[in-house]
Amino acid sequence: MRIEKANLTHLDSIYDIEIKTFSDAWSKNSIKSAMESEPCNIFLALDDDNTVIGYIFFYLIDEEAEILNLAVIPEKRRMGIASSLLKYSFEIMKKNGVRNAYLDVRKSNIPALSLYKSFNFEQLTIRKNYYTKPVEDAIDMCLCLDNEEVEK
Ligand SMILES: CC(C)(COP(=O)(O)OP(=O)(O)OC[C@H]1O[C@@H](n2cnc3c(N)ncnc32)[C@H](O)[C@@H]1OP(=O)(O)O)[C@@H](O)C(=O)NCCC(=O)NCCS
Repeated sequence: MRIEKANLTHLDSIYDIEIKTFSDAWSKNSIKSAMESEPCNIFLALDDDNTVIGYIFFYLIDEEAEILNLAVIPEKRRMGIASSLLKYSFEIMKKNGVRNAYLDVRKSNIPALSLYKSFNFEQLTIRKNYYTKPVEDAIDMCLCLDNEEVEK
């Protein structure tokens, strides 16, 4: 497995995973716009045969980063791929002077909540009915990267 920055040749693969993963999936246009926008970074986990097996989207804004999207295909879960994508992203964030990384997660998303807690993300607030399709509360989380030892 290796991690690489996404480009337009990966758009269809990302979208294919996105619609299979999320009930409130990003549209292909939104993914394309994110790819082309300066503050947004999209990194992929690629298998040895160059198949996209996961991705992370995050924005860098001054001393803050926001993780907008993270997914791993079902056949490759529990193999540390999301953890590798997060660690890789934290390195980039730190190099860009980011001090705090934020994200939202559905209240019922136990795998994602467990993953973020394993990285010491802390709960900030609950946003009532934040998500649609289905309507659900969001848990706002934050990780202070000043305290975080990120592996090379
Ligand atoms: C959440 C998701 C990205 C995790 O990806 P992954 O590659 O399987 O995660 P990792 O293998 O790096 O898991 C690291 C740790 O997270 C926790 N974790 C991950 N999946 C879990 C699960 N299903 N149940 C409980 N804990 C889980 C565990 O602590 C795990 O460590 P362990 O395997 O040593 O016990 C993946 O399940 C996914 O794509 N889900 C659908 C999309 C999604 O919910 N994205 C997040 C939106 S906020």
